[in-house]
Amino acid sequence: MITKGKVFIITGASSGIGGELANQLAKKGAMIVCAARTLKKLEAICTEINKNGGSAIPVQVDITDKAQCDKMVEKTIQSYNKIDGLVLNAGISMWAKFDEIKDISFFKTIMNTNYLGSIYCVHSALPYLKESKGKIISCSTAQAIMGFPNHSGYVASKHALHGFLSTIRMENKNEITILEAVLSWIKGTNLRRNSFGAEGEKKQDGSVRKHTNESVSLHQCVKIIIQSIEKDLKTVYIPKKLSLIPFLKVFFNGFLERKVSKAISKNKK
Ligand SMILES: NC(=O)c1ccc[n+]([C@@H]2O[C@H](COP(=O)([O-])OP(=O)(O)OC[C@H]3O[C@@H](n4cnc5c(N)ncnc54)[C@H](OP(=O)(O)O)[C@@H]3O)[C@@H](O)[C@H]2O)c1
Repeated sequence: MITKGKVFIITGASSGIGGELANQLAKKGAMIVCAARTLKKLEAICTEINKNGGSAIPVQVDITDKAQCDKMVEKTIQSYNKIDGLVLNAGISMWAKFDEIKDISFFKTIMNTNYLGSIYCVHSALPYLKESKGKIISCSTAQAIMGFPNHSGYVASKHALHGFLSTIRMENKNEITILEAVLSWIKGTNLRRNSFGAEGEKKQDGSVRKHTNESVSLHQCVKIIIQSIEKDLKTVYIPKKLSLIPFLKVFFNGFLERKVSKAISKNKK
């Protein structure tokens, strides 16, 4: 896909990967609809893009509400008259061993955001994506392929989204394309700060886990996602070594689980 002149809706554009995607795609000449709940942050990102000669509009949306997703799509059509790309990026995470969780209700919030919120956006935008022969881009995680301690609800939501998108790809073959970005830990986002802990609390108190040297920079991650959009890839693993995971899962699962345990201990608070 050539990104110049294309219209992208990016959910979760008020922070992290979404904000950086908005900036880098706008620099390539794409028109951006920056969508999330925090209007002030969206406005700041759009102002910066427009000041630098790009084109972006902020749209306040809570993707857990289908009516708001419909409105987001309506506003996009009113402003730009088409949709070429839908980036399913808005997301929320957790860090707690399942049997230590006191109040399980935040699993619903994670599922409503990462899974249902994404499918609401697809349902609202799909007719326009078909019209333009457009693309859905999903910001997923390697954890969704293999399972991951302390992330049970998060992993399940991303696994569900993967299953959904695999079906949408088959149902709409020749009409739309789908890119799944399978990411490792990315530095410089707010995902850890906003993740749920065992008490259902958000980790905004300075107890956020530190990244190791192996984490990928935000700029590099987004650059690779955009290159993958341009190359029309179905899946991109960031970093590349994650592409071994599906193979290891089938043939060397014990080895994979030991590697994961090691990674977890490095990432303890
Ligand atoms: N960072 C990583 O290491 C990593 C690794 C693998 C996958 N990912 C995935 O990449 C995506 C982006 O993560 P990030 O690291 O950039 O996190 P982030 O900095 O915390 O950004 C998350 C974004 O989602 C938005 N959001 C959350 N709930 C929403 C809702 N109900 N409606 C609309 N927007 C909502 C937030 O904006 P508001 O609060 O303003 O709504 C924010 O803009 C996520 O799907 C995450 O699972 C990240």
